[in-house]
Amino acid sequence: MDTATFNKRIKRVVITEEEIRAKIKEVGKQLSKEYDGKPLLVVSILKGAFVFMADMTRELSVPHEIDFMIASSYYEGTVSSGVVNIKLDLAHTDISNFHVLILEDIVDTGRTLKDVVHLLKGRKPLSIKVVTLLDKPDRRLVEFNPDISLFTIPDYFVIGYGLDCGEFFRNLPYIAEYNTEI
Ligand code: PRP
Repeated sequence: MDTATFNKRIKRVVITEEEIRAKIKEVGKQLSKEYDGKPLLVVSILKGAFVFMADMTRELSVPHEIDFMIASSYYEGTVSSGVVNIKLDLAHTDISNFHVLILEDIVDTGRTLKDVVHLLKGRKPLSIKVVTLLDKPDRRLVEFNPDISLFTIPDYFVIGYGLDCGEFFRNLPYIAEYNTEI
């Protein structure tokens, strides 16, 4: 993609860098209190969550380990099978001695997180919690509610801060609306 097209595709900034930073600080404090003294494993689902993971973990003042997964749910039409397609599994083979905190960039239909949580619960962690940067509840197709959403947004296509369109735009430091009109 050439730079002119790239720039034209960015319709408007929806959530600024400052707003993201402030909210992450606030939630980071809350989570640091909650997990103080507990063995914590922070997990994020690639690729979209990589920026959020980097910023959120730096606001956690408690000791923790990190790990990554690449996962998506299998589904046919609107029916989620509950089976997760794991392209990359956690490096931690045993999570039974950890409180697991999943950091995700966006909950859309809810399929990915519902199935990932189901899968990881089966590995018997001490607890499991999901924190998402963005939540689009209008798009939900399966019943799933994140424990914490930093921002709830209506149903429009967003890019930036880890979120892509055709693998581009992940590097934008803010969340923007994608321009579908050009
Ligand atoms: C996005 C996002 C979530 C998932 C949410 O990932 O990062 O993992 O979709 O959608 P859902 O609620 O409808 O399941 P995507 O599959 O686009 O891959 P990416 O993270 O590599 O961009």
